[in-house]
This record gives sequence, structure tokens and C-alpha cells, in this order.
Amino acid sequence: MNGSSAPVDPGEARERIATVATWRHSIEVAPGVVTEGTVDNRTELGRLRIPADLAGQRVLDVGCSDGFYSFTCEQRGADVVALDDESSLLAGAGNGFTVAKELLGSQVAYRVADVETLAESDLGQFDLVLFVNVLYHVQNPQRALRALAAVTRPGGRMVLKTIFRNDVRVWVRGRPYGFDLDRKPKWWYFPNDELVGHPTNWWPPNRAGLVGMLEATGWRIDGPIDQHGDRLYLHARRTT
Ligand SMILES: C[S@@+](CC[C@H](N)C(=O)[O-])C[C@H]1O[C@@H](n2cnc3c(N)ncnc32)[C@H](O)[C@@H]1O
Repeated sequence: MNGSSAPVDPGEARERIATVATWRHSIEVAPGVVTEGTVDNRTELGRLRIPADLAGQRVLDVGCSDGFYSFTCEQRGADVVALDDESSLLAGAGNGFTVAKELLGSQVAYRVADVETLAESDLGQFDLVLFVNVLYHVQNPQRALRALAAVTRPGGRMVLKTIFRNDVRVWVRGRPYGFDLDRKPKWWYFPNDELVGHPTNWWPPNRAGLVGMLEATGWRIDGPIDQHGDRLYLHARRTT
């Protein structure tokens, strides 16, 4: 990576990894030493279609958690700011970002902040923002998407992944099938932990609701909207 430090001893790396209660991300922090994440985010990389070459680009990773996507973008040449409000229960006493950053010798900057307050931040403008598995957690999705547009340069890109819902949905052998009774935009609200057992899974949209809100907050869809399980994946461009 960008670090100047000598390669980390694998035993030392394992000791540092063990100081973090729960890892969300699987990150290779030293040769052959990978954190035991609860998510296989390496499989997700292809689905997110993050550009392979980010040389000269400024990237903002919102809801970065342990930082897998931030470090990946840095390895692809970007200047990265990683941001998280540390509200996730998975974070427990803290996420693994600092430990991973040190072990990797990374230069990624870390900010503790709520995405909804970004518009007032001093972070400047970004070419690419990652908003991966965060939209349904925020208090006010519309405010969050507007705040993201405010820190993205005109024409800049957002990579977005979110939980979504249909009116009718059944699971067959682990795969969701469903449809909307009509094509109206909708956002469901779950005040407690009704959605996948997580108390901050508040706002899943349907497809039309997601597209409608993006278009109303300064974004246009760019390319396909893909679905895997109960998640939608898309790229959006900031409109001028
Ligand atoms: C489900 S995790 C997703 C982590 C990572 N982006 C991924 O996809 O693996 C959601 C993360 O977003 C953070 N988060 C939730 N609400 C936020 C907000 N309003 N502003 C900034 N970060 C937030 C949480 O602390 C958590 O680390």
C-alpha cells in the first residue's frame, strides 16, 4: 500500500486483530493473515463494480466500518476519506478500521460523522462516493442523499447498495422472489428490529421508491440496477 513501514510480522498482526471484538470485513492485513469478517466483502467487490483504476480520484467511503472498501480504493490509486458514525451494533467497542489501517500502512483518513451532516463539512468535493449498506440505516434517507450530492462533483459517481422490498415476497431455497402490486414508489418504515433483526434497519425502499428519491435529490441512475438476494446495486451520477 502507501505505507513506508516494514512488513508486519504475522504473529503480531494476529495479536492486533484479536484486540477488535468483532470484524465485519475480511481484510488481508499481512501476507496470509486475513481478518475473520462476518461478511465476504471480497465477493461483493464485483457486484459493486467499483472502477479498477482510481488514480487521481478522491473517494468518500460512507459507513466504512472496518474499511475494506476504503483500502481497496486506496490500492486502486485513490485519495480516500473513510467516514462512519460508529452507530452500528456490529462495531461494539469500536470497529477494526484503526487496526487494519496501521497493519496495512494505509494513508486513508478516518472521520467519525453522520452522513446527514456532510453538507456542512470541510471535506471538499469527491469524484466517487461509496454508499454501501448504509441508506436503510440513516434517520432521513432524503437528507442523506442530498448531503452526498453536495460533496460530489457534478458528474461524479455514487456506488450504492441497499436492502429493498417488494409488496409480495417469498423466499424459495434462500432466494427471494416477489413483485409490487403496483409500480408506485414506496419506502417502508421499521421502527424496531422487524427487518432482519437489526434495530437500525429503518428504511427499505422498493425499486421505484429508490429511483424516485435519487432523482429528487440530485442524482440520475447510470447503468443497470442489479439485484442479489434482498439487495439492489446501482451506480448514480450527480446531476449538474
Ligand atoms: C451495515 S454496515 C455497512 C459497512 C460497509 N459499508 C459494508 O457494506 O460492509 C453500516 C455502517 O454504516 C454506519 N452508519 C450507519 N448510519 C450512519 C450514518 N448516519 N452516518 C455514517 N455512518 C453510518 C454504521 O456504523 C456501520 O458501520
